[in-house]
Amino acid sequence: MTAPNAERPIIGIVGGTGKEGKGLAYRWAKAGYTIILGSRAAERAASAAHDLDQLLSLQGRITGASNVDAVSRAGVVMLTVPYSAHVEILESIKAFAYGKLLIDATVPLQAGKPTRVQMPSAGSAAQEARNILGNDVEVAAAFHTISYEHLLRDEPVDSDVLVTGTSPDARARAIELVTAAGLKGWDAGPLENSSVSEGLTSVLIHINKKHGSRQAGIRITGVGST
Ligand SMILES: NC(=O)c1ccc[n+]([C@@H]2O[C@H](COP(=O)([O-])OP(=O)(O)OC[C@H]3O[C@@H](n4cnc5c(N)ncnc54)[C@H](OP(=O)(O)O)[C@@H]3O)[C@@H](O)[C@H]2O)c1
Repeated sequence: MTAPNAERPIIGIVGGTGKEGKGLAYRWAKAGYTIILGSRAAERAASAAHDLDQLLSLQGRITGASNVDAVSRAGVVMLTVPYSAHVEILESIKAFAYGKLLIDATVPLQAGKPTRVQMPSAGSAAQEARNILGNDVEVAAAFHTISYEHLLRDEPVDSDVLVTGTSPDARARAIELVTAAGLKGWDAGPLENSSVSEGLTSVLIHINKKHGSRQAGIRITGVGST
């Protein structure tokens, strides 16, 4: 367990009561980050935060709040909501995200067809986020191929993370958080490339179904250490 450090940004997780949000909170809190779990209902977030905080004996490093409060108080915003709620939630936090980095893990899965890649008209969920939030919010996209089950296990994860974003700085800051979560992140280029990383989730779900597995992941090969 790493001690808290004032130089690390506070991370607000919108949809933080859900599976992926709690998994990321678990990893980042252990790495010394202060986390605010966000929810549409502040009391639900407080309860989820209390449970995680107790599990890790963190004495208050993870707290809960409404999504809007979590965004307002955070330096970096993590978005982990079902695609069906993506536009509505982004509209609700937009006024509070000015000048921040938002990392979107949303995969635009369609009900009943999780093995089929289907991107929204914006090109990808992350591009949709950028369109809604505007140019004053940097957007990165990451973690699409990392299951919450891996995040909640204290074991190495056999899968890399492709990170796209609106600027090299946005991608670098997101990769820092991928590393803090104990994963290998790759700068995968501009946000337009997020259609590939988001789409990979359907490919991995298909492979898992075909092989009766739950662990399919990806690795970048052929690149020397940098
Ligand atoms: N699960 C994974 O392993 C995984 C892996 C990679 C990426 N992702 C992506 O991460 C996102 C979140 O996945 P998840 O599995 O964490 O989802 P989840 O557990 O079903 O939901 C996450 C949270 O979203 C909030 N939410 C807001 N609007 C909602 C609505 N209309 N209906 C339902 N929930 C709503 C809920 O919090 P409140 O009710 O407290 O507001 C909920 O706890 C998805 O886009 C998914 O594709 C998931």
